Amino acid sequence: MLGRVKSLDAIMATAEKKSLHRSLGPVQLTLLGVGAVIGTGIFVLTAAAAQKAGPGMVWSFVIAGFVCAVAALCYSELASMVPVSGSAYTYSYAVMGELIAWTVGWALILEYAVAASAVSVGWSGYFMGLVKSWTGFELPTALAAGPTWSMNGWLPHADFSTGVINVPAIVVALSVTWLLMIGTRESAVFNAVLVAIKVTALTMFIALTLPILEREHFAPFTPNGWFGPAGTTGMGVVGAAASIFFAYVGFDAVSTAAEETKNPQRNVPIGLIGSLGICTVFYLLVAAGAIGAIGSQPTALGIAPGSAEFNQQCAALAAQGKEPLVCSREALAHVLRAINYTWAGDLIGLAANLALPSVILMMMYGQTRIFFVMARDGLLPEKLATVHTKWKTPHVVTLITGIAVAIAAALLPVGQLADISNSGTLFAFFMVAMAVMMLRLRDPHRVRPFRTPLIWIVGPIATAGCVLLYWNLPYDAKLVLPIWGALGLLVYFLYGYRKSHVGRGLVEVHEDDPETPPQPVPPMPGGTQLD
Ligand code: ALA
Repeated sequence: MLGRVKSLDAIMATAEKKSLHRSLGPVQLTLLGVGAVIGTGIFVLTAAAAQKAGPGMVWSFVIAGFVCAVAALCYSELASMVPVSGSAYTYSYAVMGELIAWTVGWALILEYAVAASAVSVGWSGYFMGLVKSWTGFELPTALAAGPTWSMNGWLPHADFSTGVINVPAIVVALSVTWLLMIGTRESAVFNAVLVAIKVTALTMFIALTLPILEREHFAPFTPNGWFGPAGTTGMGVVGAAASIFFAYVGFDAVSTAAEETKNPQRNVPIGLIGSLGICTVFYLLVAAGAIGAIGSQPTALGIAPGSAEFNQQCAALAAQGKEPLVCSREALAHVLRAINYTWAGDLIGLAANLALPSVILMMMYGQTRIFFVMARDGLLPEKLATVHTKWKTPHVVTLITGIAVAIAAALLPVGQLADISNSGTLFAFFMVAMAVMMLRLRDPHRVRPFRTPLIWIVGPIATAGCVLLYWNLPYDAKLVLPIWGALGLLVYFLYGYRKSHVGRGLVEVHEDDPETPPQPVPPMPGGTQLD
């Protein structure tokens, strides 16, 4: 299975045969990245980061951004060499073989689908906040949020005091599913408009908060230390970095557009690194502004956000009419309202309401595209990729993805979803960095239009950074990756192992967009080896 490698040349030949119009330039690619990146992470999870790290969350943003930057340098090398769809999955197929590629693809489901759920829940918080601010109407808690989960030994335990089912999150997830099913794809212009809305909202936030920044709000700077008090997991500055990593996820969407990019060898690295750079600058200023304006006001030290104890403390504070930043479901709007800019709080809420659905759309679209490439390789049933005759979209896989996204969004809180998504993403990033280093050793003379600078320093730092962040995720989120991985292996051995096109010695002959289903493939005369 490890020997079932898809040859880079075969992948490239497929890409060259493709007739997708290469229309994206560096600016559009960077905007695509920023459009996929800025979302629930900064708008919502800032609150959880403040509880975990206190003012030291500014460092958390730096650490998470740094790990993403080194990972992006590795992504860029592979994306420039293999400018085709499928992202980390395709790269690992070419370098590390089918079994690893399958596990990466399987982990990418966590990254994309679970991220779509997390952003749906984030949208729900902002939507209800805006409705309340404008009309005074509040949905009963039971219908506005899901329960909180914890592990009781090996069994999950639900605490329904925080909510039962998140109805607005279901509505937005299913609406986006519907849009994708009927063939909606964001145009570059529409994406640019939404990016402008988000960037304007964050700029307004920075402009209103930085001038009133107070030094004393930054003390004590790291109340929970760097790794959290003894006996806790996922706390402290590094624990917050592991969670806030979610805020940067999505820049790899740029690499999935490589097939539609003019001069991808040059423009994809620009798009990846450019979008990440822009977001990092905004995030640092927003984090400093939020803390500087009202302080982090943690409930009690060492208590994990989302835990039963934390929820009780927030409920007790709410009963006294107090809502600290760390308890807010709409962190940035909350900060602005707390400093008496209610109109600006509403505006930022409006911006989040308008822009977050596009992040959900991108994540779900990315998910269906990964499923496609996997189905094209025979690792998933080809029927999943059936295309609707009228809509010309993969309606079956989109509907299944959408329903799964809506169920997770209905039943889990945003912080837990983001942490679970991070565990999958960190695994994929780790594998990409490994793939770059392995390919340098195995195939040193292949043309590399973009070379990761100082690979023997950057590569190990990227892998170590992913391990560090993964290790500092909360216990439950950490547990999901091996369980999900084991389930994936079961699926692979029951299905993909036997059906794999590479394993069966079939050559790919698709010359089309990954949106069309896999075509029947003739056996390659005289052998199975593609390499
Ligand atoms: N980075 C994206 C967000 O924060 C997934 O919503």
